[in-house]
Amino acid sequence: GILRGVCETLHQERSAYDWVGFYLAEGEKQELVLGPYVGARTEHTRIPFGKGICGQVALSKETLVVPDVAAEDNYLSCSTDVKSEIVIPIVVGDRFVAQIDIDSHSLGRFGTSDRSLLQKLALALAPHFA
Ligand code: SME
Repeated sequence: GILRGVCETLHQERSAYDWVGFYLAEGEKQELVLGPYVGARTEHTRIPFGKGICGQVALSKETLVVPDVAAEDNYLSCSTDVKSEIVIPIVVGDRFVAQIDIDSHSLGRFGTSDRSLLQKLALALAPHFA
């Protein structure tokens, strides 16, 4: 599917995009469900809204860049290799429908160019979830 293709392309074309995946909103349950991803297996297949970086973005509907995950209180660790993370919401109208989650083994990997590219991608993908 298109989501798997997006994960593979980002993982391959960008240095140190070490884990790239989608979480999909389950609105009735107020939970995120793991969708297609590339990278290490994760135990976080379901995440309540509000929990971790991903869960915070489900509520705020704003991109969150975490330069150093060790400095975060509300963080769900997948692997001790992960040092920084970015999560970009996908919104249809004002409904949060999914998010792109990227982990890096490098500290401070995600900057303004990552953010702007990924936000454009999220906009382009929104109709897929409508
Ligand atoms: N680190 C995320 C959990 C998902 S894994 O990175 C794949 C978080 O804190 O929400």
